[in-house]
Amino acid sequence: MDSRNIRLAVIPGDGIGVEVVTEGLKVLEAVGTKVETTTYDLGARRYHETGETLPDAVLDELRGYDAILLGAVGDPSVPPGVLERDLLLRLRFELDHYVNLRPVKLFPGVETPLGRSRPEDIDMVVVREGTEGPYAGAGGAMRRGTPHEIATQESFNTAYGVERVVRYAFEKALARPRRKLTLVHKTNVLTYAGDLWARTFDRVSLEYSDVQTDYCHVDAASMFFVTQPERFDVIVTDNLFGDILTDIGAAIAGGIGLAASGNVNPDRTAPSMFEPVHGSAPDIAGQGKADPTATILSVAMLLDHLGLAEEAARVEQAVADDLVERQTGWAGRTTHEIGDDITARVAG
Ligand code: NAI
Ligand code: MG
Repeated sequence: MDSRNIRLAVIPGDGIGVEVVTEGLKVLEAVGTKVETTTYDLGARRYHETGETLPDAVLDELRGYDAILLGAVGDPSVPPGVLERDLLLRLRFELDHYVNLRPVKLFPGVETPLGRSRPEDIDMVVVREGTEGPYAGAGGAMRRGTPHEIATQESFNTAYGVERVVRYAFEKALARPRRKLTLVHKTNVLTYAGDLWARTFDRVSLEYSDVQTDYCHVDAASMFFVTQPERFDVIVTDNLFGDILTDIGAAIAGGIGLAASGNVNPDRTAPSMFEPVHGSAPDIAGQGKADPTATILSVAMLLDHLGLAEEAARVEQAVADDLVERQTGWAGRTTHEIGDDITARVAG
């Protein structure tokens, strides 16, 4: 990529996905980097019109971009699982997004349900494995709908898959001031998968003597997110555990309207995809009520991934400044107004 010219594929998707992506792109434009965007109509509408979720030709085209910005997909009119599995998970698997990166950071001025918590107490990054685990789609059902039904859902954990995400997490921890990495799993019960994760983590840790390591069972980690979030700096974990933990993370750091994420291919063999953690929110879609901040912070992650660290920091600072102002009675702004205000800060 020419670092000053981003070729970006945009998938607004469904519901508020469309609204928040509009604001994210506005901010991206204000950064001053040249961006060429191509919008892809994927999601519920496409599915109803053509029956397609992610045509192979579209997937091939997407491989040619520097990055992808996604809003959200999903609609009550589509059977559950169709868009999630055949569009969203397929993109993550096919583009080898083996790191699902989810910062959990409390910005100054943002209210947290953990009353006494200060911003310095909640500042972590969850590195969730993105291509394996129980989300690999392995399993089956027999005698479905009868009293004798059997359903299995297998968790895939490969030595290769675990090692690459663990290595990424150690590098991430090394680059942060605290240099602490916690493995979260359930090694006492999930003994086969847990054993592979723990052995890999311990072996790789020998190469990172500057990184302090820790281990936490996922149930205890869920509790500590609420009682002692300051325990955590970088966390590395399985696909399912990471999915659940990061919703707790979003809750303690100001809510789902602020939670950003990146589906990252660190080897850069395919474009990485950035998206808010939230879904299409059919309950508020089309009303201008959606907070675009999570998407704007995802844009900052996108810029950072493309080597534009200064631009990324500028977007994050604009969001931080906007969040401080929200305390002082700026509530009630529409999606557009929040987008405009943050855009003005980035531009100014
Ligand atoms: P959701 O995240 O869409 O909404 C949960 C609640 O949070 C709703 O009350 C909603 O109004 C609120 N909310 C979400 N984002 C918000 C924002 N930016 N500003 C203000 N409020 C916000 O999750 P839900 O309701 O479970 O799922 C709705 C649809 O989205 C489903 O079809 C689901 O499968 C899909 N989904 C898609 C995701 C994706 O595309 N990555 C992720 C999660 C859900
Ligand atoms: Mg989730």
